[in-house]
Order: sequence, then structure tokens, then C-alpha cells
Amino acid sequence: MNKYIIHGGRPLMGEVTISGAKNAAVAIIPAALLVDGVCRIENIPQISDVTLLFSILEELGARVRVLNRHTVEIDSRHVHSTQPSFELVRRIRASYYLLGALLGRFGKATVAMPGGCNFGVRPIDQHVKGFRAMGAGVTEGNLVQAVAKGGRLTGAAVYLDMVSVGATMNIMMAAALAEGTTTIENAAKEPHIVDLANFLNSMGADIKGAGTDSIRIRGVEKLNGGTYCIIPDQIEAGTYMAAVAAAGGRLLIRNVIPKHMDCISAKLTEMGVTVEEEDDTLLVSRSGPLQRTNVKTQPYPGFPTDMQPQIAVCMAVAEGTSVVTESVWDNRFRYIGELRRMGAQVQVDGKVAIIEGVSKLRGCPVKACDLRAGAAMVIAGLVAEGTTTISDIKYVERGYENITEKFRALGADFQKVETPEPRLTVVTAG
Ligand code: EPU
Repeated sequence: MNKYIIHGGRPLMGEVTISGAKNAAVAIIPAALLVDGVCRIENIPQISDVTLLFSILEELGARVRVLNRHTVEIDSRHVHSTQPSFELVRRIRASYYLLGALLGRFGKATVAMPGGCNFGVRPIDQHVKGFRAMGAGVTEGNLVQAVAKGGRLTGAAVYLDMVSVGATMNIMMAAALAEGTTTIENAAKEPHIVDLANFLNSMGADIKGAGTDSIRIRGVEKLNGGTYCIIPDQIEAGTYMAAVAAAGGRLLIRNVIPKHMDCISAKLTEMGVTVEEEDDTLLVSRSGPLQRTNVKTQPYPGFPTDMQPQIAVCMAVAEGTSVVTESVWDNRFRYIGELRRMGAQVQVDGKVAIIEGVSKLRGCPVKACDLRAGAAMVIAGLVAEGTTTISDIKYVERGYENITEKFRALGADFQKVETPEPRLTVVTAG
């Protein structure tokens, strides 16, 4: 079982370059199935979720050519199947995007839903509501089967009952080739929604309003190939910001869109961190003590739930009492038990965590409960006195490219110890 071993207590100094956005890539790669041509996609993060999606696309008959570490060409002209195998699909939550993409292009799709869950029930009723509104018959069970009446979806008005990133993107994909116009009201506004819309538009789609809560998609007959570059990862950048906030030091973060970082920069500034923006970089530093704050997670442009565990570590070593309210997921505090083992003082009551700052954390063996929880354990390890050993790092590697190397380049004493897995394990994340 692979592990991270971190000897903490060193400030972080230097530069880090942010990779392409995971949650944009895991939608844009399936969206390439909508294209009757060749898409060249740049700034793809090198993470295990992406590798898995390439395998799924190849299994369906697409040709995936890796041109270099961060660029691929996907040729979906010869796709011959609309049913990816259960074995591959259940290992990644974002496989629900295969439904929208295959249904949109071929008028049918059969996709298994990933089992288990990391932080509460993760229903897809809003995705299904959108497909049904567009004229698809959908049956749900272990397999979700969707078939468009007459072989092609029809544009419709869809109002989402809650702001859902996945439903917004899935309906956008399905609607891109539908007959007529689809509108999505109460749509999510995350940067990766805009990125998916820009990708589809650059292939010939007609999508307006992405980034607002009202999106209009005029269906077109066909999407052609093209070249697209994925945006930088907001959450990876935020994770490095939180790491320097917690461990101290001075970090130049390259390849970011500073506007996307406002929700995170504002909170860290309140905590006594200095954040300076310039073009596509952020200079983040902390020398004085961290101050308490409160955070409530919300859809974009609110504070992202995917940064909640990382900022909680900052709060754990800040002066005073901080409060975290998780309002997106039901159960995203499982990592708190691990943080407590390191000496953090935290009480959880339902969706609220009350964090009493302590002067130091102590290294000990902990596990990554999910992707962002694992990132939080890394930050805690960098801050703690002594040695932190993190297990279950497969979660972290689903979403962070070269995390060991990136932190080592900043002066961290951070190693990955690899031992062969005893058997194939199935994990789901993101
Ligand atoms: N929801 C429903 N019904 C639906 C869809 C969502 O009730 O049909 C609820 C969910 O249960 C949740 C809320 O709506 O309470 C928001 O869920 P959303 O659909 O926005 O989440 P998602 O699309 O499944 C993506 C990211 C998550 C991130 C959330 C929120 C991907 C692959 N995953 O999930 O990322 O937490 O949006 O921003 O894009 C991560 O990267 O670590 C991660 C978990």
C-alpha cells in the first residue's frame, strides 16, 4: 500500500505551477464523444481519473493519442458502443458525464453508477430530470439506461431544484446536439461550467450564458474537431495557498486565473495571509500568526466545498475559535477524526465544525478519507511536529498531479513510499 511520509515543520518557499483543472477535464474528456472529428485538448492534468477516462473512451471505440504529458488528441469518429463496462465506470464518479455525452450524440446510453460514497448520498435525479425533459426515457438502477424518443433529444426548459455542477454540465452536453433550444435555470456557475461551454463552443456548439444562472443551448447538427486548452485548477491552487498559509513561508503560484481564486484569497487574507495578484500568478506569504475566521461552503462564487478540509487545517493552527459550515455535502467531516489524532481541537455537530486553534499539531499515522481530505492531511503533515504517515493516498492521486515533487521543490520533507498493492481495489472520488 503506497503511503506519504512527511517530516513537518518547514516553511514553504519557492514556485509552483498549477496543472489543468481536474473537474473541467473529467467533463471535457467525455464531452469529446459528442464531436464527430478530432479534438486536441491541452493542459490536461496528469492524474489517475484522467487516465481512467481515456481507457473508457478507448473501450467505446474512440482513439486517444497522447501527444505529450499534457496534450491529447481524441478522435470520436469511430465510436461503436454506448455502454462502457461496469468495471471501469464504477471507479470514477464523473462517469455520469458519459450519459449526457453518449445520449446527446447517439440518442442512447447505458452507464453504471459508481457504488459507495465518500461524503453522503450523491443522487443524480436532476441530471435525469433534464434528460427526461428533453424526451429521453430513463430507467434507473445499478445501470442507468437512457434512450431518446425518435433517436434524438429535443430542446426543453429545465429548472434545477438545487444548484448542481454535474447536472448543469450533463444537461449542457446532452443539449448540444438536440433539436431546438434548451434552457437551464438555476444553473451552477463554477469556472469549469464555463470551461465546458467554451470547449463545446470551440467545436461548433451554440451555448450562451455559462457562468450565469441561466444557460441557453441552441442544438446544432454536428460538432467538428478543434483545439482547446483547459483552465488551471482552482482547487489545486487553493490547496497550495492553504499549505503556505498553514506552514508559513512565501510561494509564487503560477498558471492561475486570480479571479477564480477570489473566494479563497479573501478568506486567507482575513486570516492574516498576504495574497498579491499579478496576471496569471499569485504571490502568497505568511509570517505572522494565523487569525480565526468562519467559512460557509457554497456554490461558486461562494467558498468551495472542495477547499473546506484544507482551510480547516489552517483554522486548526490559527489563534482563536473558527466555525466551518458545510452546506453542499451531507457528510464531509470524516477527516476531522484524523485531524484530532494529530492534536487538533474540533467539535462536529451535524454540518458545523467548531475549531479551537492550537499552537501545534503532532505527526502520527493518518489516512486520506477522500481526495480533498487527503490534501488536508498533507497540509497537516507539513505543519505538524514530527512524522506524519498518510495511507490511502490513491484518493489524493486521483486529483493532484505530482504532489510529492511539487511540495519537495518548495522545501518540504515529503516522500512517497511505494509497495505493491495486494489486490485490485476499487475507489471512487471527486
Ligand atoms: N444533488 C442532488 N441531485 C442531483 C445532483 C446533485 O441532490 O441530481 C445534490 C448533491 O447531493 C449535493 C449538491 O446537490 O448535495 C451539489 O452536488 P453537485 O451536483 O454540484 O456535485 P457533483 O457535480 O456531483 C462536483 C465535483 C465535486 C464538488 C461538487 C460541488 C466533479 C467530478 N465533482 O460534484 O468535486 O464537490 O461538484 O462543487 O466535478 C472534488 O473534486 O473533490 C469533488 C468532490
